[in-house]
Amino acid sequence: MRTSHYLPFLAAPLLAEASSILFNGGTIVAFNRNKNALEVIRDGSLLINDDRIVSVSAGAPSASLLRKDTEVVDAKGKIITPGFIDTHKHGWQTSFKTLASNTSLLEYFSRYGEFAAAGLLTAEDVYIGQLAGIYEALHGGVTTILDHAHHAWSNQTAEAGLLASVDSGARIFWAYAFHNIPSTPPYLVPEQLAHFRALAGNTTLLRSSPTSLGVAYDAWDPAASTATERQAVVALATSLNVSVVTTHTVLGPWGLTNTPSALLAAGILNTSIPVVLSHGSFLSPTDAQLLRTVNQYVSVTPESEFHYGHSNPTSHRFLDQAALGVDTHFTYSGDILSQARLWLQTARLRLYEAVLERWELPVNNPMSATQAFLLATRNGGLALRREDLGVIAVGAKADVVVWDGDAPALLGWNDPVAAVILHASVGDVESVVVDGKWRKRDFKIVVGDGKGKGGYEAVKKRFVESARRVQKKLIETKSPVPVKGDVWPYSGYLVGEAETVDVLRGEGTGYGTTFLKA
Ligand SMILES: *[C@@H]1O[C@H](CO)[C@@H](O)[C@H](O)[C@H]1NC(C)=O
Ligand SMILES: *[C@@H]1O[C@H](CO)[C@@H](O)[C@H](O)[C@H]1NC(C)=O
Ligand SMILES: *[C@@H]1O[C@H](CO)[C@@H](O)[C@H](O)[C@H]1NC(C)=O
Ligand SMILES: *[C@@H]1O[C@H](CO)[C@@H](O)[C@H](O)[C@H]1NC(C)=O
Ligand SMILES: *[C@@H]1O[C@H](CO)[C@@H](O)[C@H](O)[C@H]1NC(C)=O
Ligand SMILES: [Zn+2]
Repeated sequence: MRTSHYLPFLAAPLLAEASSILFNGGTIVAFNRNKNALEVIRDGSLLINDDRIVSVSAGAPSASLLRKDTEVVDAKGKIITPGFIDTHKHGWQTSFKTLASNTSLLEYFSRYGEFAAAGLLTAEDVYIGQLAGIYEALHGGVTTILDHAHHAWSNQTAEAGLLASVDSGARIFWAYAFHNIPSTPPYLVPEQLAHFRALAGNTTLLRSSPTSLGVAYDAWDPAASTATERQAVVALATSLNVSVVTTHTVLGPWGLTNTPSALLAAGILNTSIPVVLSHGSFLSPTDAQLLRTVNQYVSVTPESEFHYGHSNPTSHRFLDQAALGVDTHFTYSGDILSQARLWLQTARLRLYEAVLERWELPVNNPMSATQAFLLATRNGGLALRREDLGVIAVGAKADVVVWDGDAPALLGWNDPVAAVILHASVGDVESVVVDGKWRKRDFKIVVGDGKGKGGYEAVKKRFVESARRVQKKLIETKSPVPVKGDVWPYSGYLVGEAETVDVLRGEGTGYGTTFLKA
C-alpha cells in the first residue's frame, strides 16, 4: 500500500487502556430483552467495564463488578440513553457546509455527488472533513454511523476517510463505495477491490478502534453493471465477511433501482451479512415483504428525502424493517434526534390525514415517542444485525449518551423518552461514551485520548482551511444541471418544476437569494 501524502491528525494510536465508569443516580432508558421493550430505571446505576455495559440496576451494582480504577460519575438529574445510530451518512462532505441550502436531488448529482466531487477534494480534505463530520455527530449523541464512503476517488482519498473514522473514536461501519470514476487515469472497481483487500489485510490499520469495514455499491441492477463486476463485489463481501453492505435505493420516477429483488438476484440480500438500503423511497409492498423475509433494513433519512425531493411516500408502512439516517449532513442537521422528531411528526401527519380525508376526526395518535426512540437506537442495531448496539442492557457495547435533565427545555420532565425525543436538542447532550471511552465530556468533544496537543481547536483550524479551499473550487465550478423538459435517463421521466412559495406580498416578488461568497 502507498503511504499517503498527508498526515493523519493523531499519530498516537487510540489507547487500548482499560477503563471503568459508574454512572450513579441517573434515569436510565434501558432495554429489557425478555420483554423486548424499553424499560425506564429511575435513580439507577450503570456500570461500564472496558467496552461493555456490565450492570444496569435500580440500586448500586454488585460490589464484585467494581474495580479499583472505576471512575464514579454523579448522574443525578441526568437522563442516560443509548447512543443514537445513524444508518446512512457521507462523512466526507462536511466541507460543503451551507453550500446547498436549497438544492434538489437532480442538482445534487451534478454538483455535490460522488462523481461531481471527484478531483475536487484531496486526501487531506477527505480526512479532515470526515473527522469534523463525525465530531458533529458525536456532539449530537450519535455513537454509531454507517458511512456510505463514496469519497473513494483514489486509494489515497479512500484510505483518508477510513483513517479519520478510526481516529474519531466513534463506531463507524465504514463502507467503501465501489464505483467507476472516469478520472485520468480512471479509478475503477477492480483496483478498488484490490485496495479494499489490502486495507482489510492491514492488521494495524483499525488498531483497537470500534470501526469496521463494509461495502457500498449502487450498481446492483443488470443494466447498471456487468455480471462480472457484481459477482466480484459479492465475492469480496462474502469472502471477507464484511460488517455491512449498503446501497442507495430510490424508486418511483427516480428509477435509481437497487431494488431488494435486484440485490437478491445478485446474491447479496440473503447471506449472513446485514444489508442496509438507504432511503427506500417508493418501496412497494412486495419489496417491503421481501425485506421482512430476509430480515434486512431500510435507512429512512427524512430530512434528506424532504430537502432533495426523493420523498418517502411508503416508508411509514415498513417501519418494522427501518432505522434512521442523516445522509448529506452538509445541507441540514447532522444528528439523529432531529431525524427522529421530524419523522415522528411526519408519520403522524400522514396517518392523521388519512382520517381527515374521510371527514372523520382522529381520536388517537398514530405513532409514539417510544417508537421514534427505538427507530433512532435499537432498530439501527438490528439493521446492522448487532443486538449489542443501540440498547442499554448487560452485555451491550458501552455506547451511551448523558442528557442534561436540568436544561431549560427539559425542566419538569417526567417521561425521559418524551423528554429526549420531543424536547431536547443536541446542545443538551452533556457527555457521550463510545466503546467505554469518553468522546464528549461536560459538553465538549474529546479529541483523541483527550491528552493530545491542540485538541478540538487544532481540528477546527485544519478543517476550516480545507473547507475554504474546497468551497471556492466548488462555487467556481458551475456544473450544468438538468432543466425542465429534460428526460431523466435512469427512468425516462420528465424533469419538472416545483411551485415555489412566496413569503413577500405581491406577485413574482421572487425566490430571494442564498448568501455564498467564493
Ligand atoms: C491501489 O491499491 C491497490 C491495492 O494495493 C494496488 O493494486 C494499486 O496499484 C493501487 N493504485 C495505485 C494508483 O497506486
Ligand atoms: C497499514 O496502514 C498503516 C496506516 O495507513 C500504514 O502506515 C502501514 O504501512 C500499513 N501497513 C501495511 C503492511 O501496508
Ligand atoms: C461474520 O461475522 C459475524 C460477526 O461480525 C459473525 O457473527 C458471523 O458468524 C460471520 N459469518 C461467517 C460466515 O463467518
Ligand atoms: C434465504 O436463504 C434461506 C436459506 O439460507 C432460504 O431458506 C430462504 O428461502 C432464502 N430466502 C429467499 C427470499 O431467497
Ligand atoms: C437556489 O437559490 C438560488 C438563488 O439564491 C438559485 O439561483 C438556484 O437556482 C436555487 N436552486 C434550486 C435547485 O432551486
Ligand atoms: Zn446517500
